[in-house]
Amino acid sequence: MRLVLVGPPGAGKGTQAEFVAAHLAVPKISTGDIFRSNVSQGTPLGVEAKRYMDAGELVPDEVTINMVRDRLAEPDAGAGFLLDGFPRTTPQAAALDKLLVDLGTALDLVLELVVDDDEVVRRLSGRRTCRGCGKVWHVEFDAPSQEGRCDRCGAELFQRDDDKPETIATRLREYADKTAPLVDFYGAQSKLVGIDATGPVEDVTVRAIDALRSYSG
Ligand code: AP5
Repeated sequence: MRLVLVGPPGAGKGTQAEFVAAHLAVPKISTGDIFRSNVSQGTPLGVEAKRYMDAGELVPDEVTINMVRDRLAEPDAGAGFLLDGFPRTTPQAAALDKLLVDLGTALDLVLELVVDDDEVVRRLSGRRTCRGCGKVWHVEFDAPSQEGRCDRCGAELFQRDDDKPETIATRLREYADKTAPLVDFYGAQSKLVGIDATGPVEDVTVRAIDALRSYSG
């Protein structure tokens, strides 16, 4: 299956992507994770992306599309994938459609995670990420047993630079201006399914998997 997860920052895309990709046995491809990995390795792509990420703005389309094109050409994406955080603009969505046509295939479904802005702020301001294994925690909703330490690997937890209040506000504006139009874009293709992404993580996963099931009949 070729699936896209769309939703505002902090909607739980990364959290749900882990479970849904494992359920479908396809690779999870997160543009945010790829950018962050390039930033931490200090690659030219990372240096360019960091300027935008720190400001809460989107990385330019051309840079992002080229990166995804390379990633989708890798063998593990041949039989399906779950895209988390891409596309995020109408030009990115059009480029993805074209790329898949060139590969002789198409997207199957776009799953929209629906949450309001107040919940986004609560989720992002309490998010903590493990420096060792990358697992994502939340100080209130999914707290580790020892504050500031990952239960899975014991490494230190940190707060993402773009989870500061002023950057969250910019990210929400970017979402409303540039990404929300994708709901109409994919709605017009009859590929969009929206689910309520509030409530416990496990409940959201059940809703996501039910939505995939109804798609595949
Ligand atoms: P990216 O990393 O994609 O950021 P994002 O879309 O803003 O999404 P997040 O990773 O912040 O949140 P999420 O929805 O994955 O939520 P999570 O599961 O972590 O992108 C970062 C930056 O990279 C962008 O700003 C941009 O600069 C650049 N970029 C990336 N892709 C790009 C593109 N295509 N084009 C241009 N630029 C791009 O959950 C959040 C928190 O909530 C966690 O603490 C989690 O534990 C908690 N949580 C999750 N689910 C629940 C629940 N059900 N109940 C309670 N808490 C929950």
